[in-house]
Amino acid sequence: MDITFLLNGESVHVSEVNPTQSALDWLRETQGLTGTKEGCNEGDCGACTVMIADEAGARAVNACILFMGQLDGKSLTTVEGVARKTDDGLALHPVQAAMIEEHGSQCGFCTPGIVMSLATSHLTGDRNHDDILAGNLCRCTGYAPIIRAAEKAWKMPIPDGFGVPKVTIPDPTADAMRPESSDALAAAYLATPDATLIAGATDVGLWATKQLRDLNPVIFLSGVKDLQNIDITDDALTIGAGVSLERTRKLMADQHPHFAEMLRRFASTQVRNAATLGGNIANGSPIGDAPPPLIALGADITLRHGDTRRTIALEDFFIAYGKQDRVAGEFVESITVPRAPHTPDTLRVYKLSKRFDQDISAVLGAFNIAVTDGVITNSRIAFGGMAGTPQRAKSVEAALTGQPWTRETIIATLPAFATDYTPMSDMRASAAYRLKVAQNMLIRAFEDSQGSATNVLEVSS
Ligand SMILES: Cc1cc2nc3c(=O)[nH]c(=O)nc-3n(C[C@H](O)[C@H](O)[C@H](O)COP(=O)(O)OP(=O)(O)OC[C@H]3O[C@@H](n4cnc5c(N)ncnc54)[C@H](O)[C@@H]3O)c2cc1C
Ligand code: FES
Ligand code: FES
Repeated sequence: MDITFLLNGESVHVSEVNPTQSALDWLRETQGLTGTKEGCNEGDCGACTVMIADEAGARAVNACILFMGQLDGKSLTTVEGVARKTDDGLALHPVQAAMIEEHGSQCGFCTPGIVMSLATSHLTGDRNHDDILAGNLCRCTGYAPIIRAAEKAWKMPIPDGFGVPKVTIPDPTADAMRPESSDALAAAYLATPDATLIAGATDVGLWATKQLRDLNPVIFLSGVKDLQNIDITDDALTIGAGVSLERTRKLMADQHPHFAEMLRRFASTQVRNAATLGGNIANGSPIGDAPPPLIALGADITLRHGDTRRTIALEDFFIAYGKQDRVAGEFVESITVPRAPHTPDTLRVYKLSKRFDQDISAVLGAFNIAVTDGVITNSRIAFGGMAGTPQRAKSVEAALTGQPWTRETIIATLPAFATDYTPMSDMRASAAYRLKVAQNMLIRAFEDSQGSATNVLEVSS
């Protein structure tokens, strides 16, 4: 594949590059740009953080799970491109200067990644440093000096020219591997139904770096403009499958704040900037974070196969573990969430994982319970981590609906969880613990609705 992009502000054309070579390997091995470090090679540690920019703006991503094929038509900035060359030498970026002044670095291995995360957020105006750095693991310095440096740099202006390429970002190439429209994607996938679709590559990237799989033939979805659309009407919210989890989080902050708050704990900023909503559904994972709240909201997905589209309830897409309702050559085009205008948001979402940030869920519960005059009029409840697919708690829903919204009702409903779910034991949680947690999440949803303290109450099952 031939690609053209900007590297630290200069136009670069690379011929016959392997489209699934990681940007990290390419930078280090062919360009000698070794400031971008390899730590985990699976998107966890942030040592490889770089800045990508295009018409959608600038964002930090992990270079270890960024494929060369995704770089076409982008601007890529590495830590070598952060300081400016002046007649007197190098003028450090405010983030670099502050990291030195505040002693934000010891062994230095994580430092380039931290500088890239902070320089990107300095540029985009995002000041939530805990979230920004959730995907940058530092083993020796400790975060207090790093946060102090971030705060200090925040008060400084963006240096002239930083993040603004000197030359125009080249247009990406359009071909069967890099379709630009949903029509072109549909045709390309129909012609090559065994191709690996690559959206954000936050799952697929690991197939290459950890499983050493040959992914070819591949089709990149990142250039498909229709998949980036978000359409909001009075009745529904339609989100293109290629919309990133970070854009989804910002969108949900207005629509369903509890959903947005949970997405803050979806991986890290770098992963959310790359990962797509469509990828989180299409991968069919039983512990994907987006499907349970979407199912609780009654979302549909639209699948496309050639010129044919069909829309199904999201919950019906997940047939069994590893099996989805999708034929060869068919892809997820969009997700539609019904809206209930002028009513208070009833969605509550709880994620349980061993760490607060950057961790996969052991159990994730989503509760959409409508109460009118003290009586439960409707309930949709869905869980991840409780079965081989994201799944509704239909017995629990039936036990709740029509009952008074009281603590007594909640306690009486708890045994129904064992009818709905036979969870498994694995490294994240035992079956008994999962069942208990799911019950406690319902109690918590009730307590939250009462404005009570939200710590989980101990209730025997
Ligand atoms: C460090 C790290 C932390 C993570 N933390 C979380 C977490 O907290 N919660 C969580 O849920 N997940 C997490 N993940 C998993 C991953 O980020 C998500 O599943 C993500 O949503 C995948 O989206 P993607 O766009 O990167 O998909 P990709 O990796 O590009 O693709 C995933 C799969 O979906 C297919 N696909 C993608 N788009 C489409 C489409 N439109 N139609 C049909 N098929 C498609 C691909 O072919 C592939 O089979 C984490 C991953 C990493 C590396
Ligand atoms: S090397 Fe750890 S996130 Fe890339
Ligand atoms: S300074 Fe050593 S890992 Fe952060």
